[in-house]
Amino acid sequence: MAVTTSVPHDVTDLRLADARKDMIEWAESSMPVLRIIRERFEKERPLDQVRLAACLHVTTETANLMRTLKAGGADVYLCASNPLSTQDETAAALVSHYNIPTFARAGEDNNTYYNHIKSVLDISPQITMDDGADLVSTIHGSRTELIDTIIGGTEETTTGVIRLRSMEQDAVLRFPIVAVNEANTKHYFDNRYGTGQSTIDGILRATNMLLAGTNFVIGGYGWCGRGLASRAAGMGANVIVTEIDPTRALEAVMDGFRVMPMMEAATIGDIFITVTGDKHVINTTHMAKMKSGAIIANSGHFDVEINVRGLTKMSESRRTVRPYLEEFLQPDGRKLYLLGEGRLINLASAEGHPASVMDMSFANQALSAEYMMLNATTLENKVYSVPAEIDADIARLKLASMGVYLDTLTPEQETYLTSWQEGT
Ligand code: ADE
Repeated sequence: MAVTTSVPHDVTDLRLADARKDMIEWAESSMPVLRIIRERFEKERPLDQVRLAACLHVTTETANLMRTLKAGGADVYLCASNPLSTQDETAAALVSHYNIPTFARAGEDNNTYYNHIKSVLDISPQITMDDGADLVSTIHGSRTELIDTIIGGTEETTTGVIRLRSMEQDAVLRFPIVAVNEANTKHYFDNRYGTGQSTIDGILRATNMLLAGTNFVIGGYGWCGRGLASRAAGMGANVIVTEIDPTRALEAVMDGFRVMPMMEAATIGDIFITVTGDKHVINTTHMAKMKSGAIIANSGHFDVEINVRGLTKMSESRRTVRPYLEEFLQPDGRKLYLLGEGRLINLASAEGHPASVMDMSFANQALSAEYMMLNATTLENKVYSVPAEIDADIARLKLASMGVYLDTLTPEQETYLTSWQEGT
């Protein structure tokens, strides 16, 4: 493989590309819905010559989404949506094997991260594809000259959708967005089963700990927290949930978990993991109470959920014990352990969600980009849900790929469901 290329890029090492092509194809073998879309896109080219800037985790699964968008005719540029989640081999393979301009280096500093965002925005995109809304917020902050030619954007994650909805509410959003996260075929599966499994994968790879018998504290019982709780319990952990929402707290209780304030959980937890989307869910006051040996990690999108700066300040020293695991020595002799710098652990020390679940998330992304092009003239500067037909089609295709088929209503049943006269 040649290590020179005319494809624009900034990746760690193009020589890493060959080792990754097989793994991208391996991931694709668990992404049948995306493959069907790619085959149709190759014929119909719904994104012909559309300039598309994507800011996503650079993984083998994302590589297959990029291939799909390119097959649809798009001129795709990709940068990372998190400094620690990039797989350098995948970034190199995207450039060398798939001719997709890619700007991402694992462990890049903040400056490089934003320079990479700048590089993809320099194509003057017509469509943006975000995971965390960094493209959209950069455009609305310092690149407003790009807005006139933007048709719209898509957003992958809960945190990004929250940001975008507040922009819509404040009437500052200047192009339409499709909230991929809100599709049922996205959050029921990706957030629940994907985050559940990949977060545990990340914790295990960083620590090689036995989960059975540990007090496993989860901050937040949204879809991610629910998935994580059920997976941790399945591995024998004693799950404790912290919540601010009474209905979610009640659900956690009825799912069989203990619910208590973080301050109380802090004294008994062995492993702490945040999945709330909010700031300082684990603060210095909590860390001051933790047992020596406590493990602290985050699986929410941004690295704000644990007060890492506060932890650093209150500690006597900080050292790396093994990859993605740092020890913070406290003045009273306790040792606290932080995983992956408080960045999302499922992508920092592991590989993110498995391909089978990203299949549906990225099918939603590809079809939402197509939807955006088809409806370019009618969409307003609002946050839209993925159309219900697209969502249902993805579920049908996924089931068919698994060899699972459904019953259909008989005419008598249809009538019963639409009438109000019939009782017992
Ligand atoms: N988000 C979570 N898991 C992911 C993956 N495997 N690829 C891209 N984005 C992700």
